Amino acid sequence: MSSDSKRGEPVTEHYDRLAPHFVQHWAYSPEFVQWMTSRLAHWLDLAPARRLLDVGCGPGLYAQRLAAHTSEPITCADPSPEMLAQLAADPRLHPLRASAEELAAGEVGVWDAILLKESLHHVAGSKRRAVLHGLACRLAPGGRIVLVMMPTELDRPMPTSARQRLRQAKFTPDSAAKLLAEAGLTVTTGEENFEVTMPTTRYAAMIQDRYMTLLHQVEEAELERAIAELGQQEQLSFQDRYAFITASN
Ligand SMILES: C[S@@+](CC[C@H](N)C(=O)[O-])C[C@H]1O[C@@H](n2cnc3c(N)ncnc32)[C@H](O)[C@@H]1O
Repeated sequence: MSSDSKRGEPVTEHYDRLAPHFVQHWAYSPEFVQWMTSRLAHWLDLAPARRLLDVGCGPGLYAQRLAAHTSEPITCADPSPEMLAQLAADPRLHPLRASAEELAAGEVGVWDAILLKESLHHVAGSKRRAVLHGLACRLAPGGRIVLVMMPTELDRPMPTSARQRLRQAKFTPDSAAKLLAEAGLTVTTGEENFEVTMPTTRYAAMIQDRYMTLLHQVEEAELERAIAELGQQEQLSFQDRYAFITASN
């Protein structure tokens, strides 16, 4: 795992770099992936014949599993070519190199469900309203947009400055819900939790690799301190928390 200087690297380069080991970083365990897939299918109200667009799909970890819940192919969109290169060669997954901004501005495609799992924060604040508005226009009648985001408080260990940055973030589940309501959609929000247990060394490697963009700006010395504070215990446990925001037309 490389530990080159990664402070301040652009978002697409960050994801191109992380793509080969993204699944190792983010898919804590098979149980976690199964749990998240079931929560996504629930909030997306996936069913046979429902067309899904996964915006910022990454390596398609969830799209591939969500494909079992619908008879329609899933459009997997991401601006990172390296992420799309990780997509499984599965005829049920249609890769599309595009950002949320491009999809929202385009005139092509109608979907019953649009998922943005931990990707909307990469859209500039000044553009999020227009992006959600544009995506809302691409929904079929009875369609819904589902956002999955980190809440403003996380229980997982991380450097103090990253925790503070998250607390002070202007883009929160509440502000996202407001933007969706302003796009004329009916919004429901909830939080889902999963208890993660993993080897401490594996979590240390994730922090070292700045696996969250939230870790981009953290000084090397602070990063090393946070890793030392993880302690010597073989396993580490924490509650992983996610905000789910559903907006229906
Ligand atoms: C934290 S990853 C989440 C990947 C996937 N949704 C998941 O949960 O496994 C964020 C993804 O958003 C993508 N991304 C970055 N900027 C984006 C943009 N402007 N529009 C759409 N996706 C973007 C990245 O390339 C990356 O694949």
